[in-house]
Amino acid sequence: MSPETILVTGGAGYIGSVVSAQLLERGYRVVIVDNFCHGHRAAIPAPSIVEELDIQDTERLAQVMRQYQVGAVMHFAAFIEVGESMRQPGRYFSNNTAGALSVLQAMVQAQVERFVFSSTAAVYGNPERTPITEEMELRPTNAYGESKLLVERMLPWFERIHGLRTARLRYFNASGNTPQRGEDHHPETHLIPLIMEAALGQRPQIAIYGEDYPTPDGTCIRDYVHVCDLASAHLLALEKLRECGNLLYNLGSGQGYSVRQVIEAVRQVSGRDFKVVSQERRPGDPAVLVASSAKIRRELGWKPRFESIEEIVASAWEWKVRHPQGYAAP
Ligand code: UFG
Repeated sequence: MSPETILVTGGAGYIGSVVSAQLLERGYRVVIVDNFCHGHRAAIPAPSIVEELDIQDTERLAQVMRQYQVGAVMHFAAFIEVGESMRQPGRYFSNNTAGALSVLQAMVQAQVERFVFSSTAAVYGNPERTPITEEMELRPTNAYGESKLLVERMLPWFERIHGLRTARLRYFNASGNTPQRGEDHHPETHLIPLIMEAALGQRPQIAIYGEDYPTPDGTCIRDYVHVCDLASAHLLALEKLRECGNLLYNLGSGQGYSVRQVIEAVRQVSGRDFKVVSQERRPGDPAVLVASSAKIRRELGWKPRFESIEEIVASAWEWKVRHPQGYAAP
């Protein structure tokens, strides 16, 4: 039997490339769709097929799906910066919301039924309690979260009306690197890569955005989940969609670390010291986001392999030291 073909949008990006590598290892054929506005060609695992196009080009997308007889779509392509989404919300509603709609319409045209969607913990906003479970209220505090929530709301309609089977995976803070692939965003806005740049002397300091949150040390608490563990959850969801649709799972480690604790972990792992300064809060940042991932552990048997922030930071540091300029240089 020939291998099933999975279309991965954003497969040249941080999470999409790691998922693509795992799909190939598992024997799937992978077609990557990326417009390379942020993706890196060097991140693409061989032997993926690459189609350079924008997800808003519904007709071409449907054509690609038919051409390769795609069996399922994993949709990663999106803008991801919370801060930017609060300055330019339109960019997020266009690329993330309308972009996902275009992918769904192409799937309907090409009669592709299974869809795995990269959603986010940002859909919860400031949760009423932690750890956050999937049925808790959805009140995004930033346009990024809203842009993803709007997609989540479309999916049941596509299930009911067009017979799609969908999985919504709400990631908490994706982090860590694999030996081959790492986090390399331009501009970089994520905490761990920025601290590592400070540790390498590539930036003069790391700024803490707000030390007056209602948390033990006053800094925001997040749930860091390793990109390899995220990827393995995608493969489990993809398999489960053969049986049933309407899947919804949080993906986190269940443990929260404050910004100060993450800074300390990078100090320890790297053995380097660097300057830390205090800054204003970043608009749209919730104080605490920690997942309960009990549902996916119970229902799909997901077992994250990276359990502590030190392990995650160590994997990130190894790649960073070998690729100090990211994918741009050897
Ligand atoms: N932070 C700093 N200084 C920095 C950068 C970040 O203090 O230089 C703080 C932020 O204010 C936040 C925490 O570090 O409290 C983590 O910030 P990131 O930008 O690394 O990540 P976010 O939590 O804002 O967002 C990430 C993903 C989103 C996802 C969210 C879910 O980018 O896609 O995690 O928790 F929705």
